[in-house]
Amino acid sequence: MCTNMPQFYSMAKILVIDDESIIRDRLRNLLLLDDYTAYAAENGVEGLKLFDSECPDVVVADIKMPKMDGIEVLKRVKMRNKTAEVIFITGHGGVDTAIEAMKEGAFGYIQKPIEYDELRIEIEKALEKQSMQAKIDSYVMELERSVNEWEITFNCVSDCLSIHDEEYNIVKTNKAFVNTFGFRENELHGKPCYEQFGCIEIDISECLNTKARESRESCMKEIFYPELNSYFEITASPIFDSEGGFKGSIHIFKDITQRKLYEDKINASLQEKTLLLREIHHRVKNNMEIISSLIELHIEDIDDKRVVDMYGEMKSRIRSMSLVHKQLYQTENLSKVNFGEYIEELVADILNSYCIDASLVSVAIDADNVCIGMDTAMPCCLIINELVTNSLKHAFTDAATGQLQISLKNVGDKLYELVVRDNGKGIPDGFDLNKSSSLGLKLIRTLGEYQLGGKIEMNTKDGMEFKLQFKELEYKKRI
Ligand SMILES: Nc1ncnc2c1ncn2[C@@H]1O[C@H](COP(=O)(O)OP(=O)(O)OP(=O)(O)O)[C@@H](O)[C@H]1O
Ligand SMILES: [Mg+2]
Repeated sequence: MCTNMPQFYSMAKILVIDDESIIRDRLRNLLLLDDYTAYAAENGVEGLKLFDSECPDVVVADIKMPKMDGIEVLKRVKMRNKTAEVIFITGHGGVDTAIEAMKEGAFGYIQKPIEYDELRIEIEKALEKQSMQAKIDSYVMELERSVNEWEITFNCVSDCLSIHDEEYNIVKTNKAFVNTFGFRENELHGKPCYEQFGCIEIDISECLNTKARESRESCMKEIFYPELNSYFEITASPIFDSEGGFKGSIHIFKDITQRKLYEDKINASLQEKTLLLREIHHRVKNNMEIISSLIELHIEDIDDKRVVDMYGEMKSRIRSMSLVHKQLYQTENLSKVNFGEYIEELVADILNSYCIDASLVSVAIDADNVCIGMDTAMPCCLIINELVTNSLKHAFTDAATGQLQISLKNVGDKLYELVVRDNGKGIPDGFDLNKSSSLGLKLIRTLGEYQLGGKIEMNTKDGMEFKLQFKELEYKKRI
């Protein structure tokens, strides 16, 4: 047995067809010794019968035989099995015939007198070719299978897909794309996308293929496609080669027409509700002003100064509440009060209603960018109203001028600090806020400590300073 022979070759089947029994039997015996499974036939007809029953891998056939010559055997073998290889045995001077046979598909030929080693090498080469071919066939099959699978998957996607190369040419489109945009299959392939989609006039930097190349990331845009009266959200993802070079991009077209319609409806309904909410705040404010006016009318008929003052305070409190609603309907945010603006308006209003000359009191307000939800804002506004009213009403009675500072700051996570400070006459030593029976301070305590859950500090050195720290209240669902 040949030691160089790969193990699987020894299991190969070889059929020898030769009308000369000496050659035929010698070859068969030598092949058997080499551990091949060897068969022998004395003519083409017998040989083909054996070929049909034993399916040999290689046929070694004499080219000149009575009844059926070697070339005919070769043709019939190839008709039966393309991968079976035929090696011819030729006599002296039979080279031309052998070359002819090679053209017909023979693997090779050896000349008589036969050197067995020469034949064995030829058989090994034929078997190796078969094995290589089998491998190639299986790779090709695998490749075809995966290409097929990819194609099926690509076409299964219900969104429109198109692949573009770096030159903006459309390389591939899926079925959904062809069906949606009404192009014929392959009609677009190889053509620049900007010609098909009318983007010629559009700035190239706006092109998704360009953006994907420059950013090396997925990019997105919405387009309206008038031919279909539809909106599409297009996402382009860059495609790179193994070296990271830009090869083009894959575009996914998502039909968002329905979503756009819903969005329009939602926006319209939101606008309507916003308008309604503004209208409600406006009406609440107007109603409060009507209440104020009614109180005003009552005051005209009252002689008792104490009662007049009481009604006046009530009016001022209602007014401060109505200002909150005015704030809400005048600003963008309908649920949060902008304190910078609110305090400014409140102070002007109080100065006006107490007929105080604004030039005599310098007012510094520091509450920029503080916006607080309505639940917290309302008590907070009432407290500011009480404190500012107190300062303007009581602090500067003995002085020609005065200073008033109001600040509201965010000092932590939803934690706020309100400071109202005046440099007026202050309140007598030993004044206890908790024991005060007057309504203003009682209101400040009730709203500050109980409603807002805050902490109050009072400092009566050089005027009056009032500090309140509180947290924004959690929104409570009412309905
Ligand atoms: N900033 C201040 N400067 C000087 N005195 C003040 C100041 N704030 C309050 N006071 C004094 O404390 C008293 C109690 O104030 P409080 O607000 O409770 O009552 P009021 O202002 O008199 O009346 P109302 O109940 O209508 O507010 C005031 O009457 C005033 O004497
Ligand atoms: Mg007061």
